[in-house]
Amino acid sequence: MKNKKEIIIAVTAGISAYKSCELVRSLTKKGYGVTVLMSRDATHFVGALTFRTLTNRLVITDMFSDEFEWDPAHISLAQRADIVAVVPATANMIAKLANGICDDIISCVIMATKAPVLVCPAMNDNMYNHPAFKANIEKIKEFGYKVVPAIEGDLACGKKAVGHLADLGTISSLIEKLLK
Ligand SMILES: Cc1cc2nc3c(=O)[nH]c(=O)nc-3n(C[C@H](O)[C@H](O)[C@H](O)COP(=O)(O)O)c2cc1C
Repeated sequence: MKNKKEIIIAVTAGISAYKSCELVRSLTKKGYGVTVLMSRDATHFVGALTFRTLTNRLVITDMFSDEFEWDPAHISLAQRADIVAVVPATANMIAKLANGICDDIISCVIMATKAPVLVCPAMNDNMYNHPAFKANIEKIKEFGYKVVPAIEGDLACGKKAVGHLADLGTISSLIEKLLK
């Protein structure tokens, strides 16, 4: 693909983080340039090496690392991105985004970017229905971030309820739509 678009997939520490591997793989196969950012806790769920292998790019988990080529990474990545998608997005990361907290690579890149931001929450249903979470979602929508609501499905706690990550097909189509 000529002039290929640059997608940042930001992976946070939810059980559905493993699904991001498939999303990253399919976007890479379509010819997009995909860079993966991971929160520190997300690395408990999926190894950075998996994303590094799928994208053939360094995965950034630590904004103070001198491992990668850009300097300072959070600004150069924010400028290069054509879209930033947080998949999955934890309640914690959404709270940080809603309140302008910038204490990791993902929250810094999102504050610094002018690209569209897509947020795909997934969590336990009680967390999903908590008024704090709902208020934070409304706040990030006001910032212009697009939110892909969670759906009903099997949750890690064993329940079937709303909190399950939206279908990867839905997320992928939205990413491509926003890129256009
Ligand atoms: C096994 C396990 C599963 C978790 N799943 C979720 C989840 O699906 N969604 C969520 O918001 N938090 C979940 N959490 C809590 C987050 O991992 C925790 O809030 C973490 O600090 C979030 O870090 P991050 O937002 O920087 O990625 C889970 C925690 C554990 C131990």
